Amino acid sequence: MCGIIGYIGSERVVPILMEGLSRLEYRGYDSAGIATLQDGELFRLRQVGKVRDLACALQDDDSDATIGIGHTRWATHGAPTRENAHPHLDCSGDIALIHNGIIENYLVLRDELLEAGHTFRSQTDTEVLAHLIEHYFDGDLLAAVTAAVRRAEGAFALAVLCSRTPDRLVAARRGSPLVVGHSSTGHFIASDIPALLGKANSVVFLADDELAELTRDTVRFIDCDGVELHPPSHRVSADQVSIQKGGYRHFMLKEIHEQDRSIGETVREKMCHEGEDVTQSPFFSVCKRIAPFNHIYLIACGTAYHASLTAEYMWERILNMPIQSMIASEFRMRAAHLSEKSLVIAVSQSGETIDTLMALRRAKSAGAQVIALVNNEQSTIDREADVSVYTHAGIEIGVAATKTFTAQIAALGLLGLHLGLDHLSQADIQAEFGRLALLPGRINESLQKEDDIRTIAEGLHHARDVLFLARGELYPIALEGALKLKEISYIHAEGYPAGEMKHGPIALIDEKTPVVFLLSRGIAFEKVLSNMEEVRARNGQIIAVTDAPDDPAVKRLANAIIPVPNVEGISRPILFTIPLQLLAYHAAVWRGTDVDQPRNLAKTVTVE
Ligand code: G6P
Repeated sequence: MCGIIGYIGSERVVPILMEGLSRLEYRGYDSAGIATLQDGELFRLRQVGKVRDLACALQDDDSDATIGIGHTRWATHGAPTRENAHPHLDCSGDIALIHNGIIENYLVLRDELLEAGHTFRSQTDTEVLAHLIEHYFDGDLLAAVTAAVRRAEGAFALAVLCSRTPDRLVAARRGSPLVVGHSSTGHFIASDIPALLGKANSVVFLADDELAELTRDTVRFIDCDGVELHPPSHRVSADQVSIQKGGYRHFMLKEIHEQDRSIGETVREKMCHEGEDVTQSPFFSVCKRIAPFNHIYLIACGTAYHASLTAEYMWERILNMPIQSMIASEFRMRAAHLSEKSLVIAVSQSGETIDTLMALRRAKSAGAQVIALVNNEQSTIDREADVSVYTHAGIEIGVAATKTFTAQIAALGLLGLHLGLDHLSQADIQAEFGRLALLPGRINESLQKEDDIRTIAEGLHHARDVLFLARGELYPIALEGALKLKEISYIHAEGYPAGEMKHGPIALIDEKTPVVFLLSRGIAFEKVLSNMEEVRARNGQIIAVTDAPDDPAVKRLANAIIPVPNVEGISRPILFTIPLQLLAYHAAVWRGTDVDQPRNLAKTVTVE
């Protein structure tokens, strides 16, 4: 959470910072601020609210400063007020600092600094770093930042300016992501690559406990012991299209509509051509690198966890071994039995979610083999895993994940198929490939139902509670449907196994409670129908999302029906997801919420 950006070079810095901040805003958006240096003077401006509020405050800015830092905040310590917004200053007002992460020993450091006479002006953990750097500063900013980060515990990506060293920007990283970018006009630091698209042509990923010192002409990398480093640099591809709305009202809607393409891209490299043996595909050679294992843990957070749970259901049918998907933060609390025979798969869109990363590290240190399934290539989880599998969904800007979720299911489905090759016939595999080849077209077909879904969403948007019920591999999709609705519309929604409804959620049902049933001919059809009867008997409003829309019982029981193509295998959970995304989206639009930046959420959660 929190986005950070910095630049030093020959161009005017304020427009660069503001564009970077608006691209990073998905990481946090309760306040924003910048600091620049010009003629030895430090200028700082902070504003509560979105980046556009800061932009308004800066509209008459004509500063020619060419060095600066900017921050968009997701509050952890201290309310979202101007005093708590970044950049934070030291006592002298010479040092300005931005930070993403949490300084866990900030209370100890603060007491120490208070005793040494420092004055604090905010309630944040971050401010201690500005004072600590001041404490160690003797003319060398890099040395002072190095000394300060050696004292800091917790996670940080930070950038620092000092008016007494006006041609220098220092950055450091532990835990939270940070890249250093290069262009012909100067150097950048940013929380991620999208902030630098169209600006930098190459980037270096800082690793934990590494620092960078940027001047107008040079960048120097060192570790916390001062040892010089020469990290590799990576080219940045100029995918600017993904970061524009392309005529859609919201990024989320655009991303929902992109799923034919994102699924197509994700599955293409993981399938062989018709008539070819599966072992001829490039993806098979990736899977061959996985050493023998006898159990699997899938670890993830949020939407990625729902994709993992879907994989657990799908894989159980083909892999003859224990498989468990776990919420990454809980995995770390559990006495999971890890050994070199454990296969741990970390599923993450960003590849930076701190709980998933820490769970991965725990698995690795216990000798387990780790696969990353990520969208963001070169992210920390990608780099730390033994083997990586990619979703090629493109950049996702909407905070609520959509296209990356369905791409995760597709990639996990194909990974499971390759891991279970010994248990499958060539005919089964070819049938799955055949269905996946048709999936983009079927997704488009489902998207054609958008107008009907918008109408159903209108009826739903005044609800206080909504239940999402399903069985089997559609149960994780019910969880995801509920999560999408609550994230962006703020309607309380719960996903539940339909068979478990009688053990609690049924108490919520009355004529004001919509219940969304996911109902497939292939998954306990009759039993889910019985659950629909139970809801109907209590006057609940039923929305049936189903591949059996013409079934007489469905027609009798449902108040509204959303048809889904009737397809087996990996395609089924994906096709059931699309209408739930549209339902959540349109309910949120009817309610007038901020769809792309829902309150309190952040797209990449880099604090524990
Ligand atoms: C946040 C985002 C979700 C995402 C989750 C996990 O909660 O708002 O959309 O599913 O983090 O993120 P990851 O990048 O690890 O998939």
